[in-house]
Amino acid sequence: MRLAVFASGGGSNFQSIVDAAESGALKAHVVLCVSNNPAAGVLERAKKHDISVSILNPSEYENQKEYASLLLAKLSEHKIEFVALAGYMKMIPAEIVHEYSGRIVNIHPALLPAFGGPGMYGLRVHRAVLEAGASESGATVHLVDEGYDSGPIVLQETVPILPGDTPESLAARVLKLEHQIYPRALALFTDHRIQADGPDVTVHNA
Ligand code: GRF
Repeated sequence: MRLAVFASGGGSNFQSIVDAAESGALKAHVVLCVSNNPAAGVLERAKKHDISVSILNPSEYENQKEYASLLLAKLSEHKIEFVALAGYMKMIPAEIVHEYSGRIVNIHPALLPAFGGPGMYGLRVHRAVLEAGASESGATVHLVDEGYDSGPIVLQETVPILPGDTPESLAARVLKLEHQIYPRALALFTDHRIQADGPDVTVHNA
């Protein structure tokens, strides 16, 4: 499966997906890294693995339709079959969501539908979880629809919240879980063990 990964930051999730693909654990090839941020650490990681990079910042386009068609053209140029968002901080244009319906996922560092939506990213998520007095948190891989963090859930796992946790210590624990579940979630698709019929997702555990 020809995979594009979108990222805006350090790219540790990108790295875990690339590692899983290169080890064969994930039957996919990461052929493109898309970022809005020319200074993103993920770009260095992509270069180290000879993975093509495309830097397209929607904020630089007056005309969002032009941006969307450029992005679509880039994806089809690389014959992309599946898209994974991994710490990507921009909304995905509706044209892309439609074109890749059922073939575009995102990872969120909390137990959606809780603690998701606009503005819920980075340490804010973990701070909100702790302030809510939750006993556990976790990570969620979900299909992307036109909303924010609102598509059907593909895979979700939990981590405990420990006494004395700070947003930083919780973020670190959740990030480690992300690195484990993202490749596994993508493997559900490459191994055809998932059925996404609109809002319903059925996982057939092999
Ligand atoms: C992760 O916490 C992910 O859940 C969120 O953004 C962060 C990305 O981190 N969407 P990295 O760039 O993959 O290290």
